[in-house]
Formats: sequence, structure tokens, C-alpha cells
Amino acid sequence: MHRGVRSRTLKGLRRLRAMWNAGSDMEMLAAKHRGHVMNKWSHYFAIYDRHFARLRAGAVTLVEIGVAGGGSLDLWRQYFGPRAQLIGIDTNPECRRFEAPNTRIFIGRQEDVDFLERVAAEVGPIDILIDDGSHRFADQLVTFRTLFPRIKADGLYCCEDLCSSYWEPEYGGGVGKAGTYVEFLKGLIDELNAWFWRDGVDKEPAAFARAAHGMHFYPALIIIEKRAMAAPILNPVGHTAKLESRPAPMDS
Ligand SMILES: C[S@@+](CC[C@H](N)C(=O)[O-])C[C@H]1O[C@@H](n2cnc3c(N)ncnc32)[C@H](O)[C@@H]1O
Repeated sequence: MHRGVRSRTLKGLRRLRAMWNAGSDMEMLAAKHRGHVMNKWSHYFAIYDRHFARLRAGAVTLVEIGVAGGGSLDLWRQYFGPRAQLIGIDTNPECRRFEAPNTRIFIGRQEDVDFLERVAAEVGPIDILIDDGSHRFADQLVTFRTLFPRIKADGLYCCEDLCSSYWEPEYGGGVGKAGTYVEFLKGLIDELNAWFWRDGVDKEPAAFARAAHGMHFYPALIIIEKRAMAAPILNPVGHTAKLESRPAPMDS
């Protein structure tokens, strides 16, 4: 069989298998996707559906850093509908071609704090932020520090392709290597639990503990769920069982 035909056949079969296996709307939309190129690991779609579904009813503001071929913006549009405000950020000015009603493209760098602040001021509070840009640790960190506070109190922060934290030499990553974004996220787990620190504790836990409800780790993907948190209360409920001596049931 000609190589071109073989590769098209394989792609078609892969698409059919993805449609057959789709367990959610997002997986089905991704499996059916044609047109603009989208570049995501296939396991992301089930995960995104799990976290994004509750936001579908409203007019979400979704910001994605990294537009590239425009395919993921198409997917968000199909999933969230025409009322969603979609914002794409990219360094490549050619991405402006994906501007459309309710879809805005900002050209700039994700490590440029002033640029990010300007975008945030223009678009307003964010429901969903997806960092799929340079995948460089320093850039991911600047983006997190600048835009996490701009995400709504019940919104979501997502960072894709954490695999870069493990990849040497492209990104300077490595398992357990200091300075990677994954190592930073591991530190954030402690911040999430600041309520329970005993040694050297601040009386008032840092902003992250008060704003984050959960950190969901998946292969190459982190989703942080925001929710205003107060000091957790240990609240035993129910009665302490009182043992009563009951007569043994009689044999009938
Ligand atoms: C992995 S692609 C995005 C793929 C797209 N989100 C998708 O799912 O199909 C990464 C994009 O990030 C852009 N990019 C790279 N470095 C960047 C930076 N420092 N700031 C903003 N965008 C950047 C690149 O131009 C490229 O288009």
C-alpha cells in the first residue's frame, strides 16, 4: 500500500477508535475534530470534561496561552458554545487570524508580567486559564503568579505538558530536579496544607491555602480548583454508639 494511503487509513482508524471509546462530550468532539490543527495529549479530554462540565451552562471566559494552529480554540468553542469569551495568547502574530466573534487573540509573551496584567485587565475575571505556551519553567511560574489571582474564586488553573519538567536537554528537566515546574508544584502541596503546619507556622495561611480547594495531578497536566477556603473544622458528627444488651433472638 502507498505510504500516504496507509497513513490516512491509520489516522481514520484511530479516529474511529477514539469515537468508539469516547466517554464524554469533550472526548467525542476531540475525536471528531477536523480542520485547524490541535496539539494535545489524548488523555486530556476526559479530564477536561470532568472539570469543565459544570461551567458549560454559563458564559465562560477561557484564556489559553499557546494558540498555534487554532484547533484547541475551535474545540473550546464547540464545547462551550457561542456565548463563551475565548482569549488566545501567543507570541506568533499570525495567530491573529483566529480572531472571531467572542474570540480575541493577544500577541505577547507569557513571561511578560505587564503584558499579562494588561490582558487580564481587558478580559476581566477568568473562569478557566490553560497554560499551553512555552512549557519553560520560569515562564510557567511567572504566568501562575501573575494570573492565578485573576482567576475567579471558583475557577480553574490548568497547566499542560508538565512532561517538560522531566525532559533534558530541551528544557533542563529531570526527575526530582530542583527548579522545575513540577518541583514548584510539589511545594504548593505544602502550601495547600498550610492550615495544618505546626512548626514555624504563620497564624494566617498564605493566600494559596485560602484560595485553592484542590490540586489535581494527572500525567503531564495539573488542574488547580479554586474555592474560597476557611480554616478546616474537625467536626465529629453522629452519636457515640451506646452498647445495649439486647436479649438474644429466640430460635423459632
Ligand atoms: C503547544 S503550542 C499550543 C498548542 C495549542 N494550544 C493546541 O492545543 O493545539 C505552543 C504555542 O505557544 C506559543 N508560545 C511559545 N512561547 C511562548 C511564550 N513565551 N508566550 C506565549 N506563547 C508562546 C508558540 O508560538 C505556540 O504557538
